[in-house]
Amino acid sequence: MCVMSLFPVAQAYHGSPDGTKRDVASPGANHSYSIIVNTTLRAAVIGYGRFGRFWAEWIAGEFTVQVASRRTLAGLPAGIRQVTLEEAATADLVFLTVPISAVRDTLQRLAPYLGPRTTVVDTCSVKVYPVTEMERILPADAGIIACHPMFGPDSALTRTDLLPVIIWPVRDRHQRYHGLREVFGRLRMRIVEMTPEEHDREAAFTQGITHLIGRLLAEMELQPSEIATLGYRRLLQVMEQTCNDPVQLFQDLQRYNGHTREMRRQFAQALERTARLLSDETLD
Ligand SMILES: NC(=O)c1ccc[n+]([C@@H]2O[C@H](COP(=O)([O-])OP(=O)(O)OC[C@H]3O[C@@H](n4cnc5c(N)ncnc54)[C@H](OP(=O)(O)O)[C@@H]3O)[C@@H](O)[C@H]2O)c1
Repeated sequence: MCVMSLFPVAQAYHGSPDGTKRDVASPGANHSYSIIVNTTLRAAVIGYGRFGRFWAEWIAGEFTVQVASRRTLAGLPAGIRQVTLEEAATADLVFLTVPISAVRDTLQRLAPYLGPRTTVVDTCSVKVYPVTEMERILPADAGIIACHPMFGPDSALTRTDLLPVIIWPVRDRHQRYHGLREVFGRLRMRIVEMTPEEHDREAAFTQGITHLIGRLLAEMELQPSEIATLGYRRLLQVMEQTCNDPVQLFQDLQRYNGHTREMRRQFAQALERTARLLSDETLD
């Protein structure tokens, strides 16, 4: 079978005593091949958008991966199967890869079908809001792990260092947290343990500001130039990478993180102070 995979992931595939041989998507190659994987754990990915598609392939070497989508999906990579939301809800690990603003609705639809040993892992780019919603909506016996991979389809391609992932055991009912950390370690990730509150405070002034500047630069319609300095080329990269993500992600990042308002306030003040350096009074 010929499967085009999008991501040249330098994954280490590990067998396990109870692993079995099967075909999976082969990141970085244009064919599938047999490897030893642990098929005992089933992971469902809910929402097959830009990140969900990437994530399903990224973790495919480590779990039996299923995806749930509102659409009928064609051309899924080998080893990845579409299932209903009801079936996805019974997986050992359910990864939420829907927009932040769709988390509440998705949890409400998922909750009645959740398996007795299921752990829900969100991947949202903000953390306090989805964690609050997961704790509020999911049944008491559901495990909850907060997770934010600080990379996506674009940056995973260009970065050569370990990819940072924020992770926090909100309610590790089924002892999945340590296993997941090990899996992430094998998948080229650098684990950073951080509370949802710490994450949002820091992300507002790192990821939030990057997306704000990227969108601002796009509004200015910056163009490549023959005389581009390295700094300018980097600015263009920021613009392209952030604008490749859906505008919904930009809006959600700014609206659902309680710290971004303060970031934007400081940004506006800094812009004003900098502009004052160029005012007539200062220059005279
Ligand atoms: N983009 C990144 O680089 C990145 C990195 C880290 C984390 N994340 C997180 O990943 C999540 C998805 O981001 P994305 O960039 O992949 O967004 P996206 O391209 O818009 O994909 C989200 C997917 O969720 C489903 N969806 C959309 N609206 C929905 C709704 N109202 N109810 C239920 N499902 C809905 C759709 O999939 P179906 O049509 O298949 O149902 C859609 O394709 C966000 O929480 C984001 O913070 C993104």
